[in-house]
Amino acid sequence: MHAPRLISATILSFGLLVLAAAVPAAETTMTVHVDRPGVKISPTLYGIFFEEINRAGDGGLYAEMLQNRSFEDDRGDRDQKPTKIPGWRLVVGPGAKATIGLDQSEPLNPHNPNSLRLEIANNGHLGMPGAGVANEGFKGLALVKGASYDLLFYARGSKNGGAVAALVDDNSESLSEAKLIRDIGPQWKQYHCTLTATKTTAKGHLVLGADSPGTFWLDQVSLFPKNTWKGRPNGLRPDLAQMLADLKPSFNRFPGGCYVEGNRLANAFRWKNSIGDLAQRPGHWNLWGYRSTDGLGYHEYLQLCEDIGAEPLFVINCGMAHEDNVPNDKLGSWIQDALDAIEYANGPVDSPWGSLRAKAGHPAPYKLRFMEIGNENGGPVYEDHFRQFHDAIKAKYPEMLLVANTPVKTRPMDILDEHYYNSPEFFMQNATRYDAYDRKKSPKIYVGEYAVTQDCGQGNLRAAVGEAAFMTGMERNSDIVVMASYAPLFVNCGWRQWNPNAIDFDNSRVYGTPSYHVQKMFSANRGDVLLGLDFQTPKLKSSLKGGAVGSMFAVASRAAKSGEVILKIVNAAGAPQDVRISLAGLDGKVKSGTVTALASADPKDENSLDNPNKVVPQESPLADAGASFLHRFPANSVSVIRLSVE
Ligand code: AHR
Repeated sequence: MHAPRLISATILSFGLLVLAAAVPAAETTMTVHVDRPGVKISPTLYGIFFEEINRAGDGGLYAEMLQNRSFEDDRGDRDQKPTKIPGWRLVVGPGAKATIGLDQSEPLNPHNPNSLRLEIANNGHLGMPGAGVANEGFKGLALVKGASYDLLFYARGSKNGGAVAALVDDNSESLSEAKLIRDIGPQWKQYHCTLTATKTTAKGHLVLGADSPGTFWLDQVSLFPKNTWKGRPNGLRPDLAQMLADLKPSFNRFPGGCYVEGNRLANAFRWKNSIGDLAQRPGHWNLWGYRSTDGLGYHEYLQLCEDIGAEPLFVINCGMAHEDNVPNDKLGSWIQDALDAIEYANGPVDSPWGSLRAKAGHPAPYKLRFMEIGNENGGPVYEDHFRQFHDAIKAKYPEMLLVANTPVKTRPMDILDEHYYNSPEFFMQNATRYDAYDRKKSPKIYVGEYAVTQDCGQGNLRAAVGEAAFMTGMERNSDIVVMASYAPLFVNCGWRQWNPNAIDFDNSRVYGTPSYHVQKMFSANRGDVLLGLDFQTPKLKSSLKGGAVGSMFAVASRAAKSGEVILKIVNAAGAPQDVRISLAGLDGKVKSGTVTALASADPKDENSLDNPNKVVPQESPLADAGASFLHRFPANSVSVIRLSVE
């Protein structure tokens, strides 16, 4: 009874198989309407956001090599009297006897109350120095053989004497000639010498001692590589600054983030404390758990923006911290800070603040156009503070574009900042979010912070795919979304406070996470005008005009100057996808094409300090580039296709 039924079922299935083989499989198709240009893509769409978090600046981008250079690091968030001396240790050679401690008896200046006291009872007989202090930098000084380092420090002594400075490794083996610095007297004075490394190592230390017994005081001890980004004094670490320049950011938001707010107003970022003589900058405790030198201050930030071709977007504290607020009727000095920041950046050289910019070496204005009022602030207090900042700034500088944190009702918002931290799926689901924004009612949007923060390891491919899907939506709607920046930017791997980040580093190495590479791919491949796109997959029997279908997301644009057609395509599926791409209404012939793809064997794959190039984009020519071609997009991939048209 059962056997014949089985046979007939087999025959039926075989018949269907033959039929299936005869009819070509339906394809996913993407039609790019070259003759249907859409909105202009905002030239400021892709930028960066630098925040002092994870030792992004101190111990990172800021090239100062010594930790706790002014001996204030242990003051903590309530400005306690410090007891510990992070970064420093006593070095006592054979036969020597010495002690160290913090001292407030005769401060270098009122902003720098603590100095280091070194009491040498006996300097021993072997080695120079016999007794002194050593600084380990940020988990070792990264020294390069033949490279020179400027040592600058303030010192005074109980009697006239000399100091000895040298670079050593973590076994106290010499890594430079020992330099003698003479004439240290009873008054604070600044001293300088240059040390040249004899070996390359990431485990260097600086040793600074005295040539004879006595009591010595040290403060503002700084070791700077001569080789900084673009040779700027008080400059930046070249490898990290290069990572920023490679992103070709059109703007740079600074300094926060929660950093600008502070836990309390007492430790908010105040830009006026971050300019001028380094020894006079008080520094401040930041809410990410360490003290900032403010050596990478407002001026250095503006200079960085200029050096990487990014417009500054400066965030001003609007009198709101995490735990306290300035009363509404006492905002005067906080609003004045905003006005003065604009004058410092843009004012003439004979204006009070513009003259300080000129004195710092930059007479030309920095052309600050964007200012954000607070960070992630909201509610009735924000409504009132925003209104007051808005009115004062617009009265004096009507051309300034002001960014609001949350929707305000009583004043117009030039731009509204939105932040998103979520799962890859959230970002994919929100790839069409801005399609629905009301063009008449919505303010321009700045997606000031966004990142996949769930199921992301320390920054894996899947996270980057989720962000890329979302970015296709921002680009497609860049009449509304005029600016966007991933966050956070940097992490020193030894001080990870937030996960994940775009750029990971230690004292001598750096790599970009897959998210960094997506940022770079989108920013480096910008079109000027959006192109119409029909994306269809028969499997889902659906078509979304615009660019998201199933697990695929896309955006198309055209570069005005070169005429190139640029496609950004994300395949978030776990299997490769074949797509037939057709250019409709083309005004010429496709000459050639390239594809740059970010993919890897496993969506959980990440880069690391030891394997920095595991997930990096690969560029190859597009063999069958034409008005219609079939392309296979790898599983979990982000691809950029550029087509040259003649
Ligand atoms: O990017 C890290 C933090 O996330 C920022 O400081 C803050 O604005 C946000 O909550």
